[in-house]
Amino acid sequence: MYKCVSLLLLLTGRGVLSQEVEVCSKTVINSCSDCIRSGAYCTWCKQLNFTNPGEQEAARCDTRAQLEKRGCIEKDIISPQNNLTVTKNTPLSTNAFVKDEPIQLRPQEVNLELRPGLPRTFRLDFRRVEGYPVDLYYLMDLSYSMEDDLRSIKTLGNELFKALQGITKQGRIGFGSFVDKTVLPFTNTNPEKLKKPCAEKEQFCQPAFGYRHVLSMTENKADFNREVDKQRISGNLDSPEGTLDAIMQAAVCGDRIGWRNSSTRLIVLSTDDGFHMAGDGKLAGILEPNDERCYMDNQLYTKSNDMDYPSVGQVASQLEKNNIQPIFAVTKSMENVYRELSRMIPKSEVGVLSEDSKNVVELIQAAYNRLSSKVTVTHDALPDNVRVTYTPLCPGGGPAGDKGVCDNVKVSFNVTVTADECIDREVSFLIGPLGIKDKMKVSLSTHCECECDDPKEKNHTYCNNKGKVNCGMCSCKAGFVGQRCECSIGEKDESSLRAACRKDNGTECEGRGDCVCGICQCYALQGGSTYYGTHCECENESCEKFQNKLCGGNGKCRCKNCDCSPEYEGTACQCKKSDEQCRTPSGSVCSGRGTCQCNQCKCMEGYQRPYCLTCPACQIPCITKGKCIECLGFATGPFSKNCSQTCKSINDFEIVETLPPGKPCDVRDVENCRVFFTIKQLDGEDNYSAQILKTRECPELPNIYAIIGGAIAAVALIGLVILLIIKGFLYWRDVKEFRRFENEKKKEKWTPTAGSNNQSMYDKKLNVHPLECRGLSLGNADV
Ligand SMILES: *[C@@H]1O[C@H](CO)[C@@H](O)[C@H](O)[C@H]1NC(C)=O
Ligand SMILES: *[C@@H]1O[C@H](CO)[C@@H](O)[C@H](O)[C@H]1NC(C)=O
Ligand SMILES: *[C@@H]1O[C@H](CO)[C@@H](O)[C@H](O)[C@H]1NC(C)=O
Ligand SMILES: *[C@@H]1O[C@H](CO)[C@@H](O)[C@H](O)[C@H]1NC(C)=O
Ligand SMILES: *[C@@H]1O[C@H](CO)[C@@H](O)[C@H](O)[C@H]1NC(C)=O
Ligand SMILES: *[C@@H]1O[C@H](CO)[C@@H](O)[C@H](O)[C@H]1NC(C)=O
Ligand SMILES: *[C@@H]1O[C@H](CO)[C@@H](O)[C@H](O)[C@H]1NC(C)=O
Ligand SMILES: *[C@@H]1O[C@H](CO)[C@@H](O)[C@H](O)[C@H]1NC(C)=O
Ligand SMILES: *[C@@H]1O[C@H](CO)[C@@H](O)[C@H](O)[C@H]1NC(C)=O
Repeated sequence: MYKCVSLLLLLTGRGVLSQEVEVCSKTVINSCSDCIRSGAYCTWCKQLNFTNPGEQEAARCDTRAQLEKRGCIEKDIISPQNNLTVTKNTPLSTNAFVKDEPIQLRPQEVNLELRPGLPRTFRLDFRRVEGYPVDLYYLMDLSYSMEDDLRSIKTLGNELFKALQGITKQGRIGFGSFVDKTVLPFTNTNPEKLKKPCAEKEQFCQPAFGYRHVLSMTENKADFNREVDKQRISGNLDSPEGTLDAIMQAAVCGDRIGWRNSSTRLIVLSTDDGFHMAGDGKLAGILEPNDERCYMDNQLYTKSNDMDYPSVGQVASQLEKNNIQPIFAVTKSMENVYRELSRMIPKSEVGVLSEDSKNVVELIQAAYNRLSSKVTVTHDALPDNVRVTYTPLCPGGGPAGDKGVCDNVKVSFNVTVTADECIDREVSFLIGPLGIKDKMKVSLSTHCECECDDPKEKNHTYCNNKGKVNCGMCSCKAGFVGQRCECSIGEKDESSLRAACRKDNGTECEGRGDCVCGICQCYALQGGSTYYGTHCECENESCEKFQNKLCGGNGKCRCKNCDCSPEYEGTACQCKKSDEQCRTPSGSVCSGRGTCQCNQCKCMEGYQRPYCLTCPACQIPCITKGKCIECLGFATGPFSKNCSQTCKSINDFEIVETLPPGKPCDVRDVENCRVFFTIKQLDGEDNYSAQILKTRECPELPNIYAIIGGAIAAVALIGLVILLIIKGFLYWRDVKEFRRFENEKKKEKWTPTAGSNNQSMYDKKLNVHPLECRGLSLGNADV
């Protein structure tokens, strides 16, 4: 991949080059023809020795200016141009009275060989031949409301011919009539009514019909008058008529109507009502769409009741195809409807009929003049990727576009043809004025191959006798590859050689060099240095910058990394190697709690710059070191057994009589005495010195044993009292029970029937707790 944009490309909206600016933006170029295809301004240098060793052959593809700048000589630059050959160019006829058909358009045939993207302009002349034959087909609506119009036209035949004679000596007129499909709901299908669809009083009425061709084109006035005179009015039910059916048949039944090949073809449609369109047939159950073919038998349209009405589009396309220009002669009330229709049909005109059609001749004359005063050239269907624009070369002709319009008899257009892509076969299309038979045939092919006129040697010395020259490049024999077929790949295939140029299946030579026989040959960089490394992965130009200098100006750039001079460090050699700014007044670097980077302390977490002295977020040593102070100062506490080992972090301590002023640490030791000390962090992470106050502050101890003894005594006393109370209560109950027993005994002495009394007493006793007993038994039953 090799990209080059030599000049700015300025395109206007429609892709027309507004200025000759030449660019060649290359994508993947492996050959001259790739180059030619990639843009209209890409050219190829076939000069031998043009590329440097290791350079990609794509360098041969560029704009002409660039190649010349690189020293490619004119004759070695391959750039196919557009080639226009006019293959038929008969001069325009001056009048219509020649033996052969008059020629109104020139040239008649051209052959274009186009370079994709490069437009080609040629001139197209048109001259309307004076007295060119005219075929006029009068197509009349014979529904009942046209009765008076029919009467008028019967008297106007002579005038019509006279008017035609004013235009041409070769005028012919034909006649046709239409009503509508003879099915419900368009026409009353009652047999009586079908036979006579007009009002009762009407004597001259013909049976309902769709479209009838009455008279083929004739120069004979008498024939016309006779046939038209025979015409009778007819009728239908609804107001829209089968107009489009009639126009379609008149357009496609060319030989029946008698259209001449070389004539201006006009259909004059005279009606006072609207028309049915495609889809309306469904109302009558007619589903078959119109197939735009001729169905005429015995002058009648035979498929009238079998085939739907054509669409406006179908009618428009058939009229255009057959070069027929319709003139809609309609009543005032229908003018807007037919103006709309006219907008959809190119080369059509609308005129307003008076109530009885008396003005139809003037109307036709005016419409014909309007139709023939304007020339509109355009093309039929274009092949894919081909564009054509027309520039009118007439005063007031307007801008270029996909149609050209001129108001004159003799007009010219610049026709510009552009092929956007290569086309693999010859294609053709027709260009011509609307409504005129004359067309120009454009045959077009594209120029996408290079004709390099290569030397014939199969073993060319330029290719080390291992291949032939092909547009300046070597085309090597099997077993050899390389710019000059210099690599013998022997057993290996070319792809494995190429694979050696790719790191981890990446781009070949990282896109920065050429793969020559499996070895990367790296490109030069802009500043004169080059890419280097096995896969061209290195270069000395893109190291980190400091103060806008590569490696801060204090080192060398090597393969994207800075190689700093001894006294500098950092990714961009931006730091002088020094710890001056990191040293505390006492001389330690970052208080032993950080590293000096770029002459600035990088502290351990929590410690603050500049010297990592303080750590507001760290745990307070008063608490963490309390146990060590206890064992160091007083040999008590949990660490006392192993104090010097465990408390190594207190590097230095002394026991003092008085502490220096300030708030000291205050902790309680194992004996609940308050120990006072001050502690200071030394250099390093866990390195302290401490001053411990010699005297502890122990509390006046209350007699704990007395308290415990007292509590036990109190509990025992309370228990004793309770026991005594219980004992007393039991004794009192016993005494009471005994007294009662004594009383009972006395009563027994005074009652002789002791046994029965005993029994009743027992019963009485039972009666004391009946609920209790029952409750128990109930309870058991429940379980
Ligand atoms: C190409 O270059 C080689 C060596 O530089 C030279 O011998 C040879 O004549 C050149 N060929 C052409 C056609 O300039
Ligand atoms: C243009 O085409 C004609 C006929 O195809 C041919 O004879 C002529 O050499 C061509 N001219 C160029 C410049 O290609
Ligand atoms: C028509 O084309 C010719 C060359 O083909 C050109 O010189 C002329 O300027 C063009 N005219 C217009 C109006 O584009
Ligand atoms: C009219 O043109 C058609 C087709 O283009 C052709 O078949 C027919 O022979 C021509 N008729 C005359 C009279 O030239
Ligand atoms: C090209 O060279 C090969 C051997 O390298 C030889 O066999 C062949 O005949 C030669 N072809 C021509 C046309 O000289
Ligand atoms: C490169 O691609 C080949 C085929 O796609 C695969 O077999 C091979 O493992 C790949 N090597 C690396 C280094 O990705
Ligand atoms: C890149 O820089 C290194 C170190 O200065 C040097 O050895 C090497 O030759 C340079 N390479 C290129 C291609 O400039
Ligand atoms: C003292 O403490 C150190 C480390 O804390 C430990 O290695 C050693 O075994 C301890 N000695 C005793 C007697 O507890
Ligand atoms: C503790 O600090 C003192 C004084 O700053 C120093 O001499 C000693 O080496 C430090 N000890 C450790 C383990 O850092």
